[in-house]
Amino acid sequence: MSWETVTLEESEGIATITVDRPDSLNALNRETLQALEEAVGETDDARAVVVTGAGKDAFVAGADIGYMQEISTNEAQEYAEVGHRIFDAIATHDAPVIAAVNGYAFGGGCELALACDLRVASENAVFGQTEIDLGIVPGWGGTQRLSRLVGDATARRMVFLGERLDAASAAEVGLVGEVVPQAELDDVVSDLAAEIAAKPKFAMTAAKEALNQVHEMPQSAGLAFERRLWSGLFGTHDQREGMAAFLEDREPEFE
Ligand code: COA
Repeated sequence: MSWETVTLEESEGIATITVDRPDSLNALNRETLQALEEAVGETDDARAVVVTGAGKDAFVAGADIGYMQEISTNEAQEYAEVGHRIFDAIATHDAPVIAAVNGYAFGGGCELALACDLRVASENAVFGQTEIDLGIVPGWGGTQRLSRLVGDATARRMVFLGERLDAASAAEVGLVGEVVPQAELDDVVSDLAAEIAAKPKFAMTAAKEALNQVHEMPQSAGLAFERRLWSGLFGTHDQREGMAAFLEDREPEFE
């Protein structure tokens, strides 16, 4: 499926969403944001989702500054709400979502990557919560998700100073899991997505749900949640099959 500035491709359980507005370095204007929301909404059945930007320069260079310059408080509130809704949908998607960060990930682009489960970056990627220099602050989850991922000290430097991190530095602080040459990014991400897609689906969703609770619940409640999720997987086809395959020394055939 495709919209003017977003494409969605699906193959073998892997949905790939590409923000495709290269003239503006894939910045998320109102129409692109809406297309992104619709695209994410079409991926409910995917076993793995990839989010990336078109071209070789940018993942997403942020919210659209041209659009934001003149908007009212009410319009800004709506713009913030839509962004949060999409990024929450990504963060709580049943399937793991991988950000293939192929260039600039500034402002809302960095926040889009932060909402994903895994981030793989090309060597030319640059990350930044650069909003301070526009007279605003991160508004699509950056103050919260960045701090949880990289820790308070790094998050404060990035948000207060608009500090940009190259891919290697982003890996050092834990903002990305892996840095690869740009020419290899697509292959590395497709292999990772295929590996995830081949795993048992319900167990994968349960794993994501449990990990998502780390920052939402006190540990005692998180541990109780894990116990319930864990026991709820017994009796599923994939639990029976995974364990039978191990005992019979063969490859499992998951649903
Ligand atoms: N919103 C709207 N347009 C944007 C944009 C954004 N966030 N980021 C880039 N663009 C546009 C530029 O205005 C330019 O358009 P033009 O060709 O019509 O003039 C085009 O994308 C290319 O950008 P340009 O600045 O010329 O490229 P560059 O390679 O010199 O610099 C960046 C790239 C990413 C360093 C620079 O574009 C930048 O700092 N962008 C803003 C990033 C930002 O602050 N994002 C947070 C927003 S909340």
